[in-house]
Amino acid sequence: MSNPLTTALEKALRGRQKRSVPTTDLLYETSFSAPDLFSNDYLSLTTEPQLRQSFLDELSRSPLVFGTGGSRLMSGNLSAHTEFEARMKTFFGAPAALLFNSGYDANVSFWHSVPQAGDAVILDEYVHASTRDGVATSRIKGSLYTFAHNSVSSLCDCISRVLEKHPDIAAGKGTVFIAVESLYSMDGDFAPLPEIVRLTKELVPPGCAHIVVDEAHSTGICGPQGRGLVAALNLDSHIDTVLHTFGKARAFVGAVILTSPVIRKYMINYGRPFIYSTSLPRSSICALNASFDYIESPIGTELMDRLRRLSVYFEQRLVSTLQDIPSSLLTLRARNNPPEFPVEIVSPIFPIITSAPISLASFLQRLGYAALPIPYPVEPRGQERVRVVVHARNTEEEVDGLLGHMVEWATMMQTQEMQLEQVAIGVVNAATRQETSFETLRVDSLAVQLSSTACQIQVDTGIRVA
Ligand SMILES: Cc1ncc(COP(=O)(O)O)c(C=O)c1O
Repeated sequence: MSNPLTTALEKALRGRQKRSVPTTDLLYETSFSAPDLFSNDYLSLTTEPQLRQSFLDELSRSPLVFGTGGSRLMSGNLSAHTEFEARMKTFFGAPAALLFNSGYDANVSFWHSVPQAGDAVILDEYVHASTRDGVATSRIKGSLYTFAHNSVSSLCDCISRVLEKHPDIAAGKGTVFIAVESLYSMDGDFAPLPEIVRLTKELVPPGCAHIVVDEAHSTGICGPQGRGLVAALNLDSHIDTVLHTFGKARAFVGAVILTSPVIRKYMINYGRPFIYSTSLPRSSICALNASFDYIESPIGTELMDRLRRLSVYFEQRLVSTLQDIPSSLLTLRARNNPPEFPVEIVSPIFPIITSAPISLASFLQRLGYAALPIPYPVEPRGQERVRVVVHARNTEEEVDGLLGHMVEWATMMQTQEMQLEQVAIGVVNAATRQETSFETLRVDSLAVQLSSTACQIQVDTGIRVA
């Protein structure tokens, strides 16, 4: 039965559809019969039999495996949690480590609680929603700044503006926080961390900058034994807080924040998602220990090498193959590493820019791939994409296979485009003769909508014929 709330919610959902913002009801489970070239399971660990076995062994050794019955501040602070945190502190060589149920909780806990009134926060424009959500409920009201993605000059302008507007920070009596991600999931590019560190030291009074790096997409895939980008670049002593999440390369769930002991203690007492949520069950700590053991072992390094080699191979094949395809159909977004990066740091994320992401993703889905479109308005026009991800256990044949299918799709689109141009010319001529003002015709199963004034024809494949 309808009531005011249902009516309002349905109206909002319809409005979203009208604005072409995707909505979902999660009726379809993620399932794919083709190789995984789309998930964040970078090291292919979710399907690794040996890791599964180590997890089951850990579970069988653990006297209790279920939930904790409370948050860490209540009855849910177990030796399993504190021992795992001690392991994280030692492994990453951090002053302190705090475990969270998810990366989302970790970012919200940090950003909502740590920056104080009078401080300022600068974000790369592409940082994750969890960072933004935390900042939105923080005490820094009105002191949020963003800089153009990965642009050191834009960051420089931003810091200068902050110092101008916040004399306390310029005078050494406040803090400017800078939030970046090590590897950006939608663009597949690494942050220029060495330059960010240098610039911050140059501009901000000593002790008044706090750089936070979110390693969600780089943990496990770079750095010694998967310690991430900050460790790979030897920047540990220059970055104040680092987040590692466990849901991507580490094949599980949860997160750890590496930071100073005082910030750790502050988050325990002020970080609302940390305080008000039941702590991770014992079984989760078993899985996390198994996952860290696995990536720390020689096989982890071997998987990282495989991932790097295959990413290089795929990039070379993509670049040479896409040369013959119109750039509006398929282009690899450039992801050049910043200067000073060691050659072994290679991104496994390939943003394929296309004017027809829904058509491309549907084509690949019909072939059994778990491809997802990232259309307008999620991305601005001209930046719509399908994101391909290479995994450690993919093979050259598998990535070649995907590339072959993308080329098939592009060829099909070009043929359709040519046929459509012919249809369009015919329709425009007919409409001009009949002086039709607005007409919808179905021709060869393509919905052709004609506006004789604008002389513009748009079809459901996304091709525009002007
Ligand atoms: C950059 C980044 N930070 C944080 C998160 C949140 O992590 P989690 O999935 O563990 O909540 C994500 C997840 O997609 C992410 O991509």
